[in-house]
Amino acid sequence: MAGARGDGMSDLPISSDTAAFEVAAVRDAQGRLTEPCARAARAMMATHGFVILTGLLSHAEADAGLALVRAALDDPERSRCAFASQTDNRHRRRDFCALPASPEVTAFAATLARRLEDVLSAYCGREHPLLEVTTLTSYFGSSHQYIHRDPPGVISLFAALEDVSDAQGGTVFVPGTQPSGIAGRPHDPGTLALMDLASIAWNWRILRHNLAKLWAMRGSTEAPLGPGELRDRVFSTKWDEHQPNLLRFLIGKNPLFSLAMLTPPTLWRLWRHRAELRHRFRLVQTAPKKGTVILYQSDMLHAGPDNRSPAPRRLFSMSLARGPVTEKMWHSGYSPHPTLKERPMSFGDLLNHPAAQEIEPTWA
Ligand SMILES: [Fe+2]
Repeated sequence: MAGARGDGMSDLPISSDTAAFEVAAVRDAQGRLTEPCARAARAMMATHGFVILTGLLSHAEADAGLALVRAALDDPERSRCAFASQTDNRHRRRDFCALPASPEVTAFAATLARRLEDVLSAYCGREHPLLEVTTLTSYFGSSHQYIHRDPPGVISLFAALEDVSDAQGGTVFVPGTQPSGIAGRPHDPGTLALMDLASIAWNWRILRHNLAKLWAMRGSTEAPLGPGELRDRVFSTKWDEHQPNLLRFLIGKNPLFSLAMLTPPTLWRLWRHRAELRHRFRLVQTAPKKGTVILYQSDMLHAGPDNRSPAPRRLFSMSLARGPVTEKMWHSGYSPHPTLKERPMSFGDLLNHPAAQEIEPTWA
């Protein structure tokens, strides 16, 4: 997965060399990662905040997962996600929706939990809840998310059900930016402040990129703007943290990036630390092959890029809590399907599921 990144965001320094964050999945006789493999994955998670497990799912299993995602996307009554990219969802640039807690979806999630048990259990107790199971699909013309942190206290998982190319918008991570620090040593306040400063610099470039892209889409035949789309994405008063919304940027209504952040002292610090910011943090874009699974600490810096290809990008995603959660925190940051809300499941429930005991699952 090494190589140069070819896209329209040449002014954002992103590497597509993910070799340093990859672990090839090797399974034992019970179907779980072998201990050396799980140890390597835990070390990656502790150091970089994320790990890319290649070959965790067979192609047949990825195909079975893709069938679940397609079925959800084909359902006109599907449960759209409440977090991030609502405007892109509305204009069919993305389709982020919760998957129902059906026997097939639960079996798929249980298999993943079982295989990854020795990595996940370093963070999640058996009683900790499954917060959501979703599909994250993006289409040509979606916006590049701002660099952000998800709500803390969660381990999230992305499974690539098809090959994902750079142009399709594999997730961008900033290694080592989890606030809990590196290998158990918390970051000092100065380092955390530098991360905030770097995010401002990156997000300025992302705003410009998204605006330029929307401008180019006006006369495009490939991805023409829909009725009201330009207004919704640039001048709307509606909540959406990831649009290049100039109105909300100017009046300070976007907590991820707004004019209020560009104070004279901050601009001075950006100038003074410009060399350090260039070298201290690096953005890495993933381009997972079919069957690859990515685990990450929710509060590390990351972003879902725009899809710059005509091929849809589809991911399966699930999130597990690292501790007990209140219902308010759960439902404000994550999007459980109504069937999961009705019958909540824990990490332990997934591990106890009959499908989790199958080494080669019969559902695939
Ligand atoms: Fe996120």
